Amino acid sequence: MSAKPTEDPLVNKALPNGILPPNFELPYPDKPELITANLLKLFDLTPDPRIKFVMKNLTIQFLTTVGQTCTPIRQEFILLSDVLGVSALVDAINNPPVKGATESSVLGPFFTEDAPDIEQGGSIASEGKGQYMYVEGTVRSTDGTPIPDAVIETWEADESGSYDTQYKDRDHPDCRGRLRTDKDGRFGYRAVTPVAYPIPGDGPVGELLITIGRHNLRPNHLHFMVEKSGFRKLVTSLYPDGDPFLSTDAVFGVKKNLVVKLEEVNDDAEARKRGFPKGGSFKLLKYDVVLVPLDEAKAALEEFSKQRAKNAAA
Ligand code: BEZ
Ligand code: FE
Repeated sequence: MSAKPTEDPLVNKALPNGILPPNFELPYPDKPELITANLLKLFDLTPDPRIKFVMKNLTIQFLTTVGQTCTPIRQEFILLSDVLGVSALVDAINNPPVKGATESSVLGPFFTEDAPDIEQGGSIASEGKGQYMYVEGTVRSTDGTPIPDAVIETWEADESGSYDTQYKDRDHPDCRGRLRTDKDGRFGYRAVTPVAYPIPGDGPVGELLITIGRHNLRPNHLHFMVEKSGFRKLVTSLYPDGDPFLSTDAVFGVKKNLVVKLEEVNDDAEARKRGFPKGGSFKLLKYDVVLVPLDEAKAALEEFSKQRAKNAAA
C-alpha cells in the first residue's frame, strides 16, 4: 500500500511565534558593542519584570564578567561549560562508550604540551610532591591484543591540590610526563597519590557555585591521554574510590568504570626497588587501558547518533 500523500511535504514546518516587531527601531549591529546593546534593549520587551531582571543580569552581566576573567592561561568560559556539564556532555556525545573499552572523561584546563618524556618506571613527580603511588598496566585493543608504542600523557595535581601551572614561579613541568608502552603494551611509572582539589574559585564561575549552593571540588584523580594510530584517542582520568566528592564532581567527569581501587604496599624493599627514594610504603594503581579501533569507534558513533535521533523523535 502506498503512503497517503500529505498536503504539506514539510513535517516540522517552522511557524512564527506570533509576536510583532517592537515599536522601536534598533541600529544595525555593525559594530560589536551594538550587539549587546541591542540585546539589552530587546530584553526590555520581557513582560514579566522578574524574568526581565534575571535575563538582563544573569545573561549579560554574568557572561561579560566571565569574558573579562579570561586570559591566555585562564579559560573562565571553559570552566563555565565544565560546571554546567556542557563539556561532559560534548565529550559523551563525541566518544560514545564501546563495550570493554576505557571510557573518556573531561580534559580540563591543566593539560600542557611541555610534559617531559619519562622512561618506563620513571617518575612524573619531583620528590616531595606527595605520597608515593606507582601506576602500572597495559594498553590493549578491545579484542585484548596488547598495543606497543602507544603514547601516554599523564598529569595530576600535587598533594596540596595544585597543578604546576597554578604556581606563579613555575619554571619547569612537574607532576606530568609522557611515556610509551613497551613491546607487550605494558607501562609503569611513579607518581603521587591524587587528592581532591577545588577548581578555580576566584572568578565569576566560583561565585556562581557559591550562589547556587554547590561545592567546587573535583574528587581525587589522575589524568591520561592515550594515543596510537588506528585507535580512537582516549582522554580520561582514573578516580580512586573512597573520595566523598565522586558522585558530585563539580565538572561531571566521573564514570563508574573509571573509579579504581588503590592497593597499599607496605614494603620498604619493594618501594625502593620501584625507585621511590625514601622507601617506606606506596599506593599501587593497576589499570589496563582499552583503546577502541577506529572502525569500531565510527560504528559506535553512528549507532549512538541513530539512538539519539530515535529518542528525540519519541
Ligand atoms: C581538571 O580535572 O583538571 C579540571 C577539569 C575541569 C575543570 C577544572 C579542572
Ligand atoms: Fe584534574
